[in-house]
Amino acid sequence: MVVGKIAIAIAAIVFATLAAATTVVLSLISIYIPNQSSPASDYQKCLTVASNFATTVTGPVANITATTGVSVSCPQVSTYSCPGSLVNGVCTWQRKLAITCIDGSTVRIRIQSNGLPSRCMNVPLTAQVKEHDIDFEVNFNPKVSVNSPTQSATTATQLNSISCNVSSQNTAPTSSNMVAYSLQPYLSTMAGLSIDNVVILNVNSADNVDPFYPPAGYEQEGIDECLSHPQASGVYHYHVGSHCVLSPPSGNLTSCGNTNNCLADVISYMIARWPSSAKKLTVIGIANDGHVIYGPYLNNGQLVTSGTDICNGMFYDSNGNYAYFATTKFPYIMSCFGPGNYPSFGPNCTSNGVSSYTMSHYASLRYTG
Ligand SMILES: *[C@@H]1O[C@H](CO)[C@@H](O)[C@H](O)[C@H]1NC(C)=O
Ligand SMILES: *[C@@H]1O[C@H](CO)[C@@H](O)[C@H](O)[C@H]1NC(C)=O
Repeated sequence: MVVGKIAIAIAAIVFATLAAATTVVLSLISIYIPNQSSPASDYQKCLTVASNFATTVTGPVANITATTGVSVSCPQVSTYSCPGSLVNGVCTWQRKLAITCIDGSTVRIRIQSNGLPSRCMNVPLTAQVKEHDIDFEVNFNPKVSVNSPTQSATTATQLNSISCNVSSQNTAPTSSNMVAYSLQPYLSTMAGLSIDNVVILNVNSADNVDPFYPPAGYEQEGIDECLSHPQASGVYHYHVGSHCVLSPPSGNLTSCGNTNNCLADVISYMIARWPSSAKKLTVIGIANDGHVIYGPYLNNGQLVTSGTDICNGMFYDSNGNYAYFATTKFPYIMSCFGPGNYPSFGPNCTSNGVSSYTMSHYASLRYTG
């Protein structure tokens, strides 16, 4: 009898232990399986992308330029090129940035930025750099199709008028439903914002050519070692991917000169400095049409050398997501808001272009044309 009771007690303990263990296992299953089987929601994806930005305040705010930013102090000598206050040869400005994801049946993202970097600049004394009030909202990662490109060139002349045109990004496609709260007319060539709060402009110079690898007869433009420079309205900006968005130099910047082999081959200079930890899909910015901008590498560690359309966007995964990439060939980040098509000829405004465009594997899977 006593033995029987003990056996029952042991059985009860074993059963309870098994039940508890089963509960633990079941709860582990309920924690892990959904994450494996369903892709992250657009809202979650937006939050992940937003977390890459060097934000200074939780948005949305009424007026980004009226917020207290994060101070940046750099040696600079010209009041004109200092976007803040110049005291004893040290220029101090505030970087201000809020990125807000707005949940809903269509997830939206609000970008509020004063366009000033978190690291130093090297700009000519006569070049102005100013604080701006950039504030717009757009559909996040809008659903687009390889079968309905927003930009389609069937002749070389059409391609030149799209890709070699600094005005190609004056308006975002209707699928982006872009609302500008504050975006001055001089920012009409803005293509996106980098995670380090520096504006990305359309690839073309004011002459409608590649600023760093122009065709014969055009001058190359000067930049600093972060591959950025100001334009006439004081917008400090990028045209190409920059290693500085991930690993900025501390302290003063030098210029991108021929002595350091920077100006001789701007893109090779950048690729050589790209952090090895970021040789995978890496968010470097957001485009004004709501698509993500990635660095030059795919998750498999390969440089992006094909798969991009005339705008420089690519369908890069099995879910049909479309994003821009910082590539090594013109148009480097963006020449238009895509998706674009894939003609078998290249543009005439660069000496570092492609002679044809090829769909990515994921684009060709969906292509019905
Ligand atoms: C935003 O704030 C700035 C600086 O405080 C001010 O000059 C500007 O007028 C404000 N803009 C609006 C729309 O209130
Ligand atoms: C490229 O070709 C277009 C005509 O398609 C022409 O208007 C433009 O001037 C050319 N650009 C250069 C840099 O040669």
